[in-house]
Amino acid sequence: MSVLAAENLTKIYGGKRGIQQEALHQFQLDVEKGEFLGIMGPSGSGKTTLLNLLSTIDNPTSGKVIINGEVVTSLSKNKLAKFRRREMGFIFQDYNLLDTLTIGENILLPLTLQGEKVKEMEKKLVIVTKQLGIDMIINKRTYEVSGGQMQRAAIARAIIHDPTVIFADEPTGNLDSKASLQVMESLSALQQTHRTTTVMVTHDPFAASFCGRVIFIKDGKLFNEIHQGENRQSFFQDILNVQSLLGGNMDDFQTIRI
Ligand SMILES: Nc1ncnc2c1ncn2[C@@H]1O[C@H](COP(=O)(O)OP(=O)(O)OP(=O)(O)O)[C@@H](O)[C@H]1O
Ligand SMILES: [Mg+2]
Repeated sequence: MSVLAAENLTKIYGGKRGIQQEALHQFQLDVEKGEFLGIMGPSGSGKTTLLNLLSTIDNPTSGKVIINGEVVTSLSKNKLAKFRRREMGFIFQDYNLLDTLTIGENILLPLTLQGEKVKEMEKKLVIVTKQLGIDMIINKRTYEVSGGQMQRAAIARAIIHDPTVIFADEPTGNLDSKASLQVMESLSALQQTHRTTTVMVTHDPFAASFCGRVIFIKDGKLFNEIHQGENRQSFFQDILNVQSLLGGNMDDFQTIRI
């Protein structure tokens, strides 16, 4: 069953007197429950545009986004805000944690906003931070922990309210290779135990190799789609192969490692 679908999604930026730019053209996508989907493609191909439309951060020029059977592109502002809070988790490149709160308070934010009981929250916090190996830093502030720890805290925050789908934009973009490995291992393990659906935009073939499926976008259209087969190493190679077919910006290749 598909939990997330895009039907004929088109995004045209600009207009009126400005130059129009079609960033996404009649895009179709179906994401199954529990899938870990990667979105790759050269700079300017439309990845962030697609993620912003799927996650309702931005509105399409035409087309629909359907999450859990709900046509989110036609929800009212109010309903959408509630839907987003309950059904979605977000992970960003720059972690997006509040430095006025402790790591634990940051992780609990989605539950605090939902008015969950303190006892329940504390239980959930212990479980999720143990799973991510960050239970010893919950009383620290953001400036007292490493980038990898902050990103794992952001993962904990994204998943603590058991959302339908997690959206991640370049989650390893600011991390060195050791922290990237920890973050991607954490993300994929958590997403398997919770059967959460995750959609991740990344330039990093190493991060993408943790996905079950990777789609490649070029000029706002689907270019190719590959699935993980035997193991992560061979998937990593497959990803590199499609990237070389795609061509594009050499910047995209600077993070190669395995
Ligand atoms: N707010 C905007 N206004 C006008 N054009 C935009 C806007 N945002 C993106 N674009 C254009 O739409 C196209 C797709 O942009 P998008 O940000 O989706 O690319 P991307 O694949 O995420 O690139 P990158 O890898 O560099 O992050 C680009 O040509 C970009 O210049
Ligand atoms: Mg982008």
